[in-house]
Amino acid sequence: MDPAPRLHDPEFYVGDPFPTYRWMRREAPVYWYPEREFWALSRYEDVRWVSIHPELFTSTQGIMIPETGEVTPEMMELLVFTDPPRHRDLRALIKHGFTPQRVAELEPRLRELAREIVARIVPGSDLDLASEIAAPFPTVVIAELIGAPAEDWEAFRTWSDAILGSQDPGETLAAADAHAALHAYFLRLIDERRAEPRDDLLSGLLAVQRDGAPLTDDDLYHFCWLLLIAGNETTRNLISLGSQALIEHPDQLRIVLDDPAMLPLAVEEMLRWCNPVTHMTRTAVRDTEIRGQKIAAGQRVVMLYGAANRDEEVFGLDAEEFRVTRHPNRHIQFGFGEHICVGAHLTRLEARVIFEELLPHLARTELAGKPQRRLATMVPGIKHMPVHVAG
Ligand code: HEM
Repeated sequence: MDPAPRLHDPEFYVGDPFPTYRWMRREAPVYWYPEREFWALSRYEDVRWVSIHPELFTSTQGIMIPETGEVTPEMMELLVFTDPPRHRDLRALIKHGFTPQRVAELEPRLRELAREIVARIVPGSDLDLASEIAAPFPTVVIAELIGAPAEDWEAFRTWSDAILGSQDPGETLAAADAHAALHAYFLRLIDERRAEPRDDLLSGLLAVQRDGAPLTDDDLYHFCWLLLIAGNETTRNLISLGSQALIEHPDQLRIVLDDPAMLPLAVEEMLRWCNPVTHMTRTAVRDTEIRGQKIAAGQRVVMLYGAANRDEEVFGLDAEEFRVTRHPNRHIQFGFGEHICVGAHLTRLEARVIFEELLPHLARTELAGKPQRRLATMVPGIKHMPVHVAG
């Protein structure tokens, strides 16, 4: 039991927030957090309900646990900070690039990349699974998808780490400098693709018309920015945390090793149990109620996905346990409703492909030190995860 959760403190999320979540679900499912003045939701149905009512709960006032200067006027242009009907118009411009069919076409290239990266593992030696395996894979994938050269992935990683890890004292690059560098980079790429289109997402967006006119450089930049930030550390975190979960639950790892066809179910369980993205927030548009609790217009509501994903009412008495065979698994890790993750199919494919390549090694892998986390309230990543792979 934790009667005083520290919900605005990144340390809370990199520690073990789950006993506190349990207490919240039971004792205070609509919890007022006085230190930052917001409501926190821990029950599945409440998170789902808020997600499907954008007319009551807006995304336009920010989506993170409140921080000073969180939403700059520039960021308000991003898809994720808009409400319908504008949201639907913007989303329509990119969603066809992420359908199950489009994503399935990427599998051969993803397989090639995954094999190249996993080939770095030398049996009988140590490696940093977070920075050598989990980090490059999604960063290269998203860079290539947008249309950036794969060899620029290290720069992308540095910029996106600085933006998402601005709460981490170990982060040396200021978020503002990373924003400026990304902006300059994408403007150059936009010019290049305009002059010479290719078969990539950016070239596709350059061909799109909105209200009879092509998208502006700003529009294009916003899409590239969002896809890079949303599709990078999230998936990296899933791969690192998922690997850790399998290493620490050898009985579950054995199930997938004996029957790799179980992997898609295992990936869903990693999403549910590992909680790579901790929360999103909304702001009440008018006075309303959740579970009988009055919510005033203008008040912020934080949806704690990690808590909702272990709600016993939905996942049963073993909700707290990591079970790769869990089915059905209606986790809410990609959100719900209007803003449900555009990259969900891509994430699932990336995770399946990298784990198919990694699994034979994981059977011989043990942690060689405590994983080092990146301090962040929303995507508390793993910076380093030393492991030993037996020969
Ligand atoms: C483990 C991996 C991932 C997780 C857990 C995750 C989680 C989420 C969640 C919870 C939302 C909902 C936001 C809201 O309701 O306000 C979201 C939205 C979004 N995600 Fe992901 N995501 C992941 C990977 C990706 C990838 C790989 C991409 C890249 C293509 C991506 C692109 C987006 C975009 C563009 C949105 C905004 C959608 C909108 O506002 O309509 N995500 N994601």
